[in-house]
Amino acid sequence: MEWNWNYVYWSVALMSLISLVGHLRRRNSYRPSKLPPGPRGWPVFGNLFDLGSLPHRSLEAFKQDYGPVVWLNLGSVKTLVLNSAAPVEELFKNHDLSFVDRITNDAMRSHDYYKISIAFGQYSSYWRTLKRICTSELFANKRIKETMLIRQDSVDEMLLWIEKEAAKGSSSGIVIRDFVFPALFNMIGNITMSQNLVDPESTIFSEFCAALGGFHKCLGRPNISDLLPWLRRLDLQGIRRNMDSDLGKAIGIISVFVKERVEQRQRKLEFSSEQKDFLDVLLDYRGNGKDEPAELSDFQVTIFLMEMFIAGTYTTTSTTEWAMTELLQNPEQMKKIKAELARVVGADKKLQESNIDDLHYLQAVVKETLRLHPPATMLLPRKAVQDTTFMGYNIPKNTQVLINNWAIGRDEDIWENALSFKPERFLDSGINYKGQNYELLPFGAGRRMCPGLPLADRMIPLILGSLIHHFEWELCDDGKVIDMRETLGSASQKLEPLQAFLKPKTL
Ligand code: HEM
Repeated sequence: MEWNWNYVYWSVALMSLISLVGHLRRRNSYRPSKLPPGPRGWPVFGNLFDLGSLPHRSLEAFKQDYGPVVWLNLGSVKTLVLNSAAPVEELFKNHDLSFVDRITNDAMRSHDYYKISIAFGQYSSYWRTLKRICTSELFANKRIKETMLIRQDSVDEMLLWIEKEAAKGSSSGIVIRDFVFPALFNMIGNITMSQNLVDPESTIFSEFCAALGGFHKCLGRPNISDLLPWLRRLDLQGIRRNMDSDLGKAIGIISVFVKERVEQRQRKLEFSSEQKDFLDVLLDYRGNGKDEPAELSDFQVTIFLMEMFIAGTYTTTSTTEWAMTELLQNPEQMKKIKAELARVVGADKKLQESNIDDLHYLQAVVKETLRLHPPATMLLPRKAVQDTTFMGYNIPKNTQVLINNWAIGRDEDIWENALSFKPERFLDSGINYKGQNYELLPFGAGRRMCPGLPLADRMIPLILGSLIHHFEWELCDDGKVIDMRETLGSASQKLEPLQAFLKPKTL
């Protein structure tokens, strides 16, 4: 999700004349009193140029001059930024419903995606139905337990892939994310539709990945059409066109699986496994047709499944990669986690999901990684459903709300030695990421909180613990400072992939 600033600057400059007319029109428009403080912006563009290439970092810097609640005008998008835990707590405790909607950008209008999406859809009866299915069926404890073997198989396969790669003896080491990401695709593919997508016989994985990669780029790139909506029809950056193509491909791939299953069920060739996957649950759904849909269409089911891949793979891969990066740079912590794994699991035994509850240091490592490197640096932007009085400010309807998760995780007023990787801080703290501790919100909170948390809570420790317990890792450029820069976006990741060597294991 790169911010192609050169392109943006030049396109914006070319359009400035047209935009000026829009600006003069807007000058007389209603501007509510008592907005939060914020930097003065440029005519038309407002604070657009203040965002820089990594907005979560630029926005954090405003805290010093304007305090934790900041107001920005990003082109025509009114924006409220929350940079510390106290206003975030106020929002989730007292105003969750007033800010429950999501911002719809132009890319999301492609294929009517925003109307169907659970992640970007508005707070409607359809959305509430999907969220209820998630919490009471798909991510309920019972189902998470039922899918344990699927996760174990995908991890076993990942370990084999890595062993094979190591046997090739490449001088550049192993790119860890290249093995974690496909393993997660298989996990999610099997949990949702009983499909192994990573299959040497088929090109589906690479096609699907390319389409989802394009989809992510389109969603994350700043789009002149969103900032200056009267230019939308021109699609100056071609984002809408690309989205039509990439989203269309991803939908095409998943819809084949949905169609096949629908046909199987019609021919009464019930899916052979006794265990129902997500696809079965969604096709089985029946509602009252009044305040909930009577059933879900094949298209709605397709989009839902696709979102499970989007939401569940990039975030989890990024967390695993950051955790490995931090551990490889912090030998003391690596020693502790290895010792715990050896003690709880047994030096020559395989890590099982059932071990995770006893691996307190491993869990602390995951929390500490998500504190410093949350994949959703600013959660997913929310939108004010109505004019709202928030902390004494008048926040107008349709204001975008950015919760600077990244800044809160690094707030020196909350965390001692905030920039150091110290999993120990969580060992006896009782702080968790389940949405009640506002200083640690990698999965968000309130009604729009991540429904996939129970699954992520199993997948990340299993993958990370297995990588560490099964292999002995060593940094490729030992002694060299690792590039710790991150990318932008709702699924931010390490800018430079982590590469590491495998050493013979010392037991
Ligand atoms: C490290 C792993 C993950 C992280 C850090 C993460 C983080 C998040 C965050 C921050 C949000 C927005 C919350 C808010 O606005 O308050 C979100 C939403 C969501 N996540 Fe996750 N997530 C992860 C894994 C997963 C998994 C494994 C799935 C499903 C397979 C999933 C499915 C979703 C969905 C469907 C939403 C939209 C919820 C809504 O808008 O109501 N996530 N996630």
